[in-house]
Amino acid sequence: KQEGRPLRQRQRLLVVANRLPVSAVRRGEDSWSLDVSAGGLVSALLGVKEFEAKWIGWAGVNVPDEIGQKALTKALAEKRCIPVFLDEEIVDQYYNGYCNNILWPLFHYLGLPQEDQLATTRSFQSQFAAYKKANQMFADVVNEHYLEGDVVWCHDYHLMFLPKFLKDYNSKMKVGWFLHTPFPSSEIHRTLPSRSELLRSVLAADLIGFHTYDYARHFVSACTRVLGLEGTPEGVEDQGRLTRVAAFPIGIDSERFIRALEVPQVQEHIREFKERFAGRKVMLGVDRLDMIKGIPQKILAFEKFLEENPSWRDKVVLLQIAVPTRTDVPEYQKLTSQVHEIVGRINGRFGTLTAVPIHHLDRSLDFHALCALYAVTDVALVTSLRDGMNLVSYEFVACQDAKKGVLILSEFAGAAQSLGAGANLVNPWNITEVANSIAQALNMASEKERSGISITLYIELNDTVVEAQIRTRQVPPPLPNKEAIERYS
Ligand code: G6P
Repeated sequence: KQEGRPLRQRQRLLVVANRLPVSAVRRGEDSWSLDVSAGGLVSALLGVKEFEAKWIGWAGVNVPDEIGQKALTKALAEKRCIPVFLDEEIVDQYYNGYCNNILWPLFHYLGLPQEDQLATTRSFQSQFAAYKKANQMFADVVNEHYLEGDVVWCHDYHLMFLPKFLKDYNSKMKVGWFLHTPFPSSEIHRTLPSRSELLRSVLAADLIGFHTYDYARHFVSACTRVLGLEGTPEGVEDQGRLTRVAAFPIGIDSERFIRALEVPQVQEHIREFKERFAGRKVMLGVDRLDMIKGIPQKILAFEKFLEENPSWRDKVVLLQIAVPTRTDVPEYQKLTSQVHEIVGRINGRFGTLTAVPIHHLDRSLDFHALCALYAVTDVALVTSLRDGMNLVSYEFVACQDAKKGVLILSEFAGAAQSLGAGANLVNPWNITEVANSIAQALNMASEKERSGISITLYIELNDTVVEAQIRTRQVPPPLPNKEAIERYS
């Protein structure tokens, strides 16, 4: 409804997420540069254009001094962003601790950390207290910028107290909360010591959204079983008040990717990559370097594939882009070394003097290089152990254009529910199954390339019309045409 209206007349949307779409890097006392942040939440929300949107969140950096804070606030205002300043202690206890060491693994079915993983300085209670405090700080900033009629859209597991704190400020505020991760089975959620408080706080929202119907169902079950509330087809009811709960699968701005393929820089990258990997099939993984992405399992499956298919060894390359993330959390540090160790071993085992089977990059690629890589890829591997949605799978499909590669997709990624019919679905925990799927996908990709376009021709030969099927990589000239008949018959 808003699309036709000029921006200033559109309804204002306050998007509140832990991370702003840009991360700040300090260049001087009062100067900052801003880079686009990584992750599915940011990719998805970059597509929101119908509202006059402002973002409220953390810029990913500690800014203890007033001069720095003022300068950063000004730089961010140009991007329609409003910062929430979190000090080092809060970031450690709330973000590294409660969000990324407790909620994130739990929501992805990796369980709660064992006691010895909770460093002595970081007790569960102190992390939870910091989580609440940080949520209150976000609420304060939202309240400061809120204008009557605004819609406030809270995002993700970092901000489960926010709906409650906002409604405490102003019960008329329209508040939505969307979770970008899976919401786990209620049997998993109920292991969380603060299970009830978190559910009740989220329920203060007017509308709660998830990527898939299953996640919504798990949430409603948790409210029923843990809080004893009534679940209805519309949501959850508590003493006559209904909170709507529904699935709103997120997507990407596919036009942005399709348009990018026409950009000369991207075309140039495509030419470069084709030349560099000529004669080899290209397999691609693009992930944040996170345990939920199943990177070690994926690489081990690739090793098994190479082991069992010697004829493919010098004809395929796996490019694994692993974007570093949450590098202060010990579990993520361990994962980085583990991945490096496996990649080194496999390259040592199957590499030759001129080529290695795995190119592993610990960094992000710029948008143009990424689109070009998607475009030249024969087989994309998205093998998350669990994933809320996984937008890389959509980005790959959007950039495939004429190529028609194959997507190997984890059945535990939300995207499996929308892309499942066209992808090779796998259980990422089953390394043999993934290795077999790689072999099948590479053969499919070669077959698609060989078969090209199939056309039926009706040809007149000695007064008889015969039907002929041809496969060609080019569309033949229109018939009747003697030259064409001779060439294609
Ligand atoms: C996932 C989460 C996002 C998060 C992103 C990047 O997509 O759902 O909320 O922003 O990962 O992680 P980070 O910890 O760097 O913000």
